[in-house]
Amino acid sequence: MSEFSPQIAELDGFIDTLDSLEGKLIVVLHKAQNIVGWLPTEVQNHIAHRLRVPASKVYGVVTFYSFFNTKPKGKNKISVCLGTACFVRGSGDIADEFSKRLGIGVGETSEDKLYSLDSIRCVGACGLAPVVTVNGKVYGRVTVKDVDNILKDVGGNA
Ligand code: FES
Repeated sequence: MSEFSPQIAELDGFIDTLDSLEGKLIVVLHKAQNIVGWLPTEVQNHIAHRLRVPASKVYGVVTFYSFFNTKPKGKNKISVCLGTACFVRGSGDIADEFSKRLGIGVGETSEDKLYSLDSIRCVGACGLAPVVTVNGKVYGRVTVKDVDNILKDVGGNA
């Protein structure tokens, strides 16, 4: 038994429902990340074994796509859009403010595992630039002054 055994069992249940395993690596990785929250090496190796592909291929795909996480994320995932429309409207300063307030850099998770801070590329809401997402909820026309309120909002879930 490992700490991920229950999640791996759930993932196996999903893999068993697939008609064929051919070309299903990305789908299975998405499912694994939904279940576990990130993609530990043990889970990647298990997927390689189940899909009969080399572990190096799984690792290559996981590290190629930025939406796959190889480190655990915080309970609250704060993402600042650094796409062009958001960046020219000051999202870099907003990312800096979150970083200062949370004491973590972009791409990091707080020690208490309550917060992760990430940058994202255009989420297709450029009309609302600059955009911040928190656990998938979109905040538009964010200013540095809003950072406090967003963190208070999130604090309710922390
Ligand atoms: S650049 Fe941020 S939503 Fe498009």
